[in-house]
Amino acid sequence: MKRKFPNTRLRRLRSNSPIRNLIRESTLSQNDLIQPIFLIDGDNRSQKIKSMPEITRMSIDLAVKEITSLKKLGLQGVALFPCIQSKYKDKKGSESFNPNGLMQKAIEKIKKSIKDIAIISDVALDPYTSHGQDGVLGKNKEILNDETVEVLIKQALSHANSGVDIVAPSDMMDGRIKSIRKELEKNKFVDTKILSYSAKYSSNYYGPFRDAVGSVKNLGKSNKDTYQMDYANSKDAMHEVEMDINEGADIVMVKPGLPYLDIVNKISENYKVPIFVYQVSGEYAMIKAAVKNNWLDEKKVVIESLQCMKRAGANAIITYYAKDVLKWMK
Ligand code: PBG
Repeated sequence: MKRKFPNTRLRRLRSNSPIRNLIRESTLSQNDLIQPIFLIDGDNRSQKIKSMPEITRMSIDLAVKEITSLKKLGLQGVALFPCIQSKYKDKKGSESFNPNGLMQKAIEKIKKSIKDIAIISDVALDPYTSHGQDGVLGKNKEILNDETVEVLIKQALSHANSGVDIVAPSDMMDGRIKSIRKELEKNKFVDTKILSYSAKYSSNYYGPFRDAVGSVKNLGKSNKDTYQMDYANSKDAMHEVEMDINEGADIVMVKPGLPYLDIVNKISENYKVPIFVYQVSGEYAMIKAAVKNNWLDEKKVVIESLQCMKRAGANAIITYYAKDVLKWMK
């Protein structure tokens, strides 16, 4: 159909705010937000993260306090990430499935103290390995897929044992969703959900996060190109999503966020699965830096970025801005 002027004047529907509100195609609400939390050992401890202004690493007791107040603001979920001491790191990341490890204790404590908040746990080895990779290394420093999956299964099960709602494998090994699902079923964790980082790109936007979990030094000059996806590709993402759904993923994730919304949109149009988007640390740091210089209006740019993720097809968004947005919405 050809729309002709002046029968059609698209500006008619933009002429005032009630009309604009009524024809809005997507919404951003408190139901869409997940706050990442970085954990450290100890009591009443918090540490600043240089490349992530206003975000801190915190001990479990402070995390419980923080999440309690976030919950009052309307938060629906938290994504937990550990930053462990180097003495607990080894080549295989064995600390990752310690039943008394930092993550496991945190999940238990949060579950016990706070009602009705979705706890999402990162399943990956990079915070636990002495080399900072998400996998077990072979003789030539290659990442061994199946050996890594063996460790990931134990890690995921240990989180389920602690009472986690959603395990979120962010490692990008092949076949890990199927193996984790099988292990959860075998142990009667039939309701434990899997949020698969399906479309996870080998991105340069993760820098500040690697600082936050303390893997940056360990990783050194090496990269994650042999398992995370090439940012030039989109078919690869569709392939990953399809396989993960077939292997038992309940939700898929796209990461990073803003530069990858074409991927979000493609998944949304092709699959019947909820999609989460991760506005990653580098995206956060970029906005913070511009805001510090008075080059951008923080509130407006953040809301716009998140709204665009919803428009593209995101069901929920993991963002370091969750707390601020909830406050702005009040
Ligand atoms: C690693 C993991 C990363 C992030 C979440 N889980 C970094 C990486 O893959 O190196 C990045 C999140 C962010 O940048 O905010 N398993």
